[in-house]
Amino acid sequence: MATIRLGDIAPDFKAETTQGTIQFHEWLGDSWGVLFSHPSDFTPVCTTELGTVANYFSEFQKRNVKVIALSVDGLESHHNWIKDIEETQNVTLQYPIIADENKEVANLYDMIHPNANDTFTVRSVFIIGADKKVKLILTYPASTGRNFDELLRVIDSLQLTANYSVATPANWKDGDDVVISPSIKDEDIPAKFPKGFNRIKYYLRLTPQPNK
Ligand code: BEZ
Repeated sequence: MATIRLGDIAPDFKAETTQGTIQFHEWLGDSWGVLFSHPSDFTPVCTTELGTVANYFSEFQKRNVKVIALSVDGLESHHNWIKDIEETQNVTLQYPIIADENKEVANLYDMIHPNANDTFTVRSVFIIGADKKVKLILTYPASTGRNFDELLRVIDSLQLTANYSVATPANWKDGDDVVISPSIKDEDIPAKFPKGFNRIKYYLRLTPQPNK
């Protein structure tokens, strides 16, 4: 198992999921992807996380992002657990959960951290771009549920960077000013950023969010 780093092509795999067998890259198609693991079925924090992602499903769709969950339990267990998630979180689960009983995907993506737990996956998140490259890796402990608003915020930032020569400053939220990439010369800014810009330092230039 090689370490996965930002910019690497996300490893491809074939897996059984609650929505049938998938070949990961083919399943992604031209979409962005979020692959997230959780320690185990029928656990409380995971139940709330999967419910939250189901509630946010349309937000991921709006951004052309496909979501897929993973745990090292089997398909039958996943299907039974989905009933609980739907009942307790008041959702319909629209996205697949990978049944990774042999831990093939978990090992491929280094989701098992033996000094935390030698059996279960930790809470990993991989954001994958439309170019199949890994754009973000997060690792959370089992006891901390993830913040899916933050994931959407990062996706918005990544997609802005992919489409415009901008980056996003600390605590940026959709609609706030963005940072013009240092590779853009001052004289080229008016053509690229017709809304104008504020030059605070030669390396710190802010402009209104280009896609608003
Ligand atoms: C949970 O998902 O609820 C959980 C999993 C492992 C340890 C603690 C909580």
